Order: sequence, then C-alpha cells, then structure tokens
Amino acid sequence: MSELDFDTLISPVSREQFLSEYWETKPLRISRHQSDYYGSLVSGSDIDYLLSAACLLDREGVELLGSKELRVGSDQKPAGALYKSYRQGASFRIRGINRFWKPIWTLCIRMQELFGFQVAANLYCTPADSRALDRHYDLHDTVLLQVAGRKNWRVFGSPIELPLEHVPLMKFERLIDGVPYRGAPVIHDVTAKYEPTEPSDEFVLEPGDLLYLPRGVVHEARSADSISAHVTIGIYPVTWVDLIAVALGQLGYQDVRLRKALPVGFNSADASIKEEFDKLLNEVARCADVSKAVEEISASLTWNQQAIGEGSITDSEPQSIDVGTLVERRPGLSCRFVMDGEFVRLAASHGDVSLPKYFAKAIRFVSENQNFRVGAIPGGLSDHSKVMLARRLINDGFFRVAKNSVHN
Ligand SMILES: [Fe+2]
Repeated sequence: MSELDFDTLISPVSREQFLSEYWETKPLRISRHQSDYYGSLVSGSDIDYLLSAACLLDREGVELLGSKELRVGSDQKPAGALYKSYRQGASFRIRGINRFWKPIWTLCIRMQELFGFQVAANLYCTPADSRALDRHYDLHDTVLLQVAGRKNWRVFGSPIELPLEHVPLMKFERLIDGVPYRGAPVIHDVTAKYEPTEPSDEFVLEPGDLLYLPRGVVHEARSADSISAHVTIGIYPVTWVDLIAVALGQLGYQDVRLRKALPVGFNSADASIKEEFDKLLNEVARCADVSKAVEEISASLTWNQQAIGEGSITDSEPQSIDVGTLVERRPGLSCRFVMDGEFVRLAASHGDVSLPKYFAKAIRFVSENQNFRVGAIPGGLSDHSKVMLARRLINDGFFRVAKNSVHN
C-alpha cells in the first residue's frame, strides 16, 4: 500500500472543499467502511511496538488517562505497569509518535508543508467501555484517524470560536492554569458550563473512518464493546496574533520609539498615553515588514522539523545526469524558497542552497515541485547550468534521481 498524504486522508472530500467548507469552520466526519484504510500508516498490531519504543525513548511522552494510580516516569517499570492499568480500564496516550514512526513522520511533514503549520501526532488506546478524557475542547485543530476498534463520539458546539493556543507572554507575565488571561475564559469553567448541553452530533467511528474537529469544538468519546485505538493529528496554526506579534517585535528592534519606556507612573497616566499609543500603532502599520515576519516564522517551523530527506546518508553520487533525467524530492523533506537580498535560497532544516538571485525562477520552481525533468528548470539557464544545479540539489540532500527516471 502506498504512503498516505492529506488528500488521501480526507478522500472523497477534496482539499479545496475541505479548506472552504470545514477548515476552522465545522467538523467533518468521513465514514468509509474500509477497515484497512490506514494500514500503511499504523495498524493495531503496531501499537505494542510503539508503546515499548515510547517507554524506552520518552517515558514522559506516555501518559495514562483515566487512572491516578500510576505516574509514568516514576520508578515503576512503565510498560508492564501500563499494560496492567490498561487491563483495569485506563487509557493511554503516546505523544509525538511522528518522532519515531516513519509513515506518520512522513505524513506529518507532508501536512506541515501543505498547511505551513506545525503538525504532530498522538496515539490513543482505550479499553472497552471506557473514556480516555472528559468532555473538553482543544486549542489546536485535530484530525482523528480510527485505527482499530470502535468509539462512540459526541460532538457539541463551540463556546469560543477558534480559541488561541498561545498568546505571546511578556517577561513579567506568568500563564497560570485557572486564571483568566488576556480576557480568554478559563477552559475548565467553559467546559463545566457546557456539561448539561445536548450534543449536536452523535456517531460511531469505525476503523478507517476520519473525524476533523476545528479547535474550540467541544467533544467527548467513549469506547463501546471493543477496544479503541486512534491517531490524533494535531495542526497548530500560526494566527494573525502570532504574525503581528513577530512583526511588532522585529520593528521594535529597528525603531527606538517602540523601545522607550511608558511614562513613569504610567498606571495612572492620562489621555496622553492613548494619543502616543495611536501614533505608534500608525507607525507600526506603516513600517512593519510582513514578509520579514513570515520568513522568521517559516524559518523557525522548518528548523523545528529536523527533517533530513530519506536516503541522504546512504545514497552515492549519481553518475550520469542530463536534461532528460527525472529528479524527485527526497521523501520526508520539505523546503522553501527564500529571497535574501542579492541571493535566493532553497531552505530546509538540514541546510540551504544559496545562489545569486539570477537563479530566482529556477529555485522557486524547484521549491514548488516534488519532481521534474532537469531540462524543465526555468529561468533561462543553459543545459549545462541546469545539470549543475540538479547535481548540487542531489549532492546537498534535497533531491535524488527518481527511481523510475526513464529518459524521454
Ligand atoms: Fe480532544
């Protein structure tokens, strides 16, 4: 079975339909009656390995849910104790399985490239007739893939439309659970208020089914007569608040007026503070550099991936490349195009290819295509230059000669 990408995950819904009708708007449920649909990603029989590996690699990343008896990371043997608690009705969550399970690592990187946002995956296992988590909503968008068993879901409305995952903290501020922050309500209070509410939708997820929940949508789930295992893919959007905060921070380092202290005794200041505030905001709107802010965020997200394309370490240098050679992006690698003064860069987490801006068209083309024939590289390059560029992209671990490269 071939690797799954986001388009296959949400099929038969198209990406365009998903983005226009569901993304950030309303839940999407896909019932497939195809129990092995996620077979290439993870199957029920893989879970024991995942649990053992996670216990060895990152005990803190394995959490028991619905049991207060065992704190993983304590001196008890985690895997054995987890099995015991699971048999007694506790659920467990393995956080970040994209870090050590290749098919999900690849899927998350592809989704990160598509959305531009950070993507990570957790695995949940629940024994029969149990509930892993109380009724709640999440602060990021989630795509749930039912891998094994069945689970009854109840989906409610959204008490807060698109809640923020993170609001930039000042150095004098502390984010304390249970305290209102920047006007946002406390999650526990909101979910408690939602407790008596009737669900807007109730359904059973079966193996091969999918559920997308926008952040903020209240939900709860309970296994029935069988165990349930599902993967939750979390999409952590970068919001306008984030972008404006980054742009403002960048501008602060350029414009000393933004770095000046508020008037001494500002907490009793009069209308003059409002006047200065408005004046500075106008300056920010006029001078903030959105492309520089986007670049800073993109660079951080790329760096966070720590992704190196498959085969980069072991493949030897290809012998013959010409304009008819088909090259393809190394699996698991995403890269982006960056204008950088007199240079252009193809940037990935493992390194950059930097060239004079004369190569802009060529590098943009390369950044936007998963595969191409060397001769198709645009930008007025000679055949010799195209071959040299392709060779460099291969040697630097971005691309490889396609396995099925047959000359036209
Ligand atoms: Fe959730």
